[in-house]
Amino acid sequence: MTNEFSIGFETLSKEIAIDQLPISGTIPDWLEGTLVRNGPAEFQIGKRPFNTWLDGMAMLHKFAFKDGVVSYANKYIESNTYKKNHKHNTIEVGEFATDPCRTLFQRVYAFFNPQFTDNTSVNIGNIADKYIAMTETSIPIEFDIDTLKTLGHLDYSGEVSGKITTAHPHYDFDRGETYNYTTHMVGIRSHYKIFRIPDGSSERILLSSLPVWEPSYMHSFAMTENYIILAEFPLVVYSLVLLGGITLLDKPFITNYSWKPESGTRFQVVRKSDGKLMATRKCEAFFAFHHINAFEVTEDDGEVKIVLDLAAFDSSSVINELYLDELRQADPNPITPGQFRRYTLSLEHETVEKRVITHQNIELPRINYRHYNARPYNYAYGISVTEGEGWFNQLAKIEIADEKDFVWSEPHCYPGEPVFIPRPDATAEDDGLILSVVLNAQDKTSFLLILDAQTFKEVGRATVPLSIPFGFHGQYLPLIKPEDTSTSA
Ligand code: CO
Repeated sequence: MTNEFSIGFETLSKEIAIDQLPISGTIPDWLEGTLVRNGPAEFQIGKRPFNTWLDGMAMLHKFAFKDGVVSYANKYIESNTYKKNHKHNTIEVGEFATDPCRTLFQRVYAFFNPQFTDNTSVNIGNIADKYIAMTETSIPIEFDIDTLKTLGHLDYSGEVSGKITTAHPHYDFDRGETYNYTTHMVGIRSHYKIFRIPDGSSERILLSSLPVWEPSYMHSFAMTENYIILAEFPLVVYSLVLLGGITLLDKPFITNYSWKPESGTRFQVVRKSDGKLMATRKCEAFFAFHHINAFEVTEDDGEVKIVLDLAAFDSSSVINELYLDELRQADPNPITPGQFRRYTLSLEHETVEKRVITHQNIELPRINYRHYNARPYNYAYGISVTEGEGWFNQLAKIEIADEKDFVWSEPHCYPGEPVFIPRPDATAEDDGLILSVVLNAQDKTSFLLILDAQTFKEVGRATVPLSIPFGFHGQYLPLIKPEDTSTSA
């Protein structure tokens, strides 16, 4: 098996800005806006390497489209963590799976002054009309959309506390509100605090506070028209261990969590209108990073069910596959594929039905979010891996009703998260484009691939003269015109 993809885990030190990338094929005229992507790009500080793909220092990448021309720029996010690491030329702040080397004195100091990383490498968002980069601590960083320059922390107001959150907030287009949750760990009883943020505001308004003995590691959550659903996978932490126990000082964040399959997975369904816990349902143990979509269905007899789709794994051991030592091996192990699974929860009965939608695997899933999030839908897009390969080597489109799939792949090419852009005035769910940053491991360059989302065939590509490390998530931001300062999430 090849490990040619491992250049996607090499540090990119160049920050560049190019007004016009070489193009093959065509760039549709109506594509006018900016794709901003986020991800790790520096995997070692001084002599200290980070442990996993998830730990590297955040870099923003911007592809702007206008009149058929594509420009590119990239820039590191100058977080406090980034500045501190570079000042001392070593890793100074703990990440998801990497801790600084500390002397005994520093450990004692850190015990009383815990530091939370502001290395916002996971996603892009929009809060209070500001563009922010996010990670899983509640410290988003605002950046300038034109220059990609770091502007500083965005400070939330409001009563919601809790340092651990997700970089996958949901946006409710009807209510004009963003939803997310934090895990608040104080004492022996922790709470999930589900909150909402009204448009134009940075105030986190508490919707519901759910007590929990052993909080789960949840990278994302689900939202339907009327409900927020937390899928608590049995990868859990005893909160004293994480907050105050001596293990915190010796272990990186995620290694404080234990896989307890005997607990199963628990779904908690909270009503958006008043924060009331409507249902708690249990099923077998599984793990996921990403929810795909969720929606409500009403049966003929009036029973309401919640349909919830995820990119699921049988256990959390997939996290161990993301260690850089593993990924850079000369003969890498196959990466575990994510399974497109559907769980259907009854709000009246204790039932949870499970179904595998397709044999095609999926990760970094995306949908036509603007028009189909929280609603019945038929198409999902993601990265996918052919059997036995060490890294994701194709893009997949899943047609749910017919259980059909389409793939795009090319030799030596490793695509990133596919972002769906609806065509203006489109009526079909999949009428639009797919944008994905693809690493060509043979040429050691990356290109922005544009696919027709309906046919899943290439429309065009714009090549970048460097290899862009594998990133996580990005968002397409339509151009903000001076007369129109409204923004979309
Ligand atoms: Co994610």
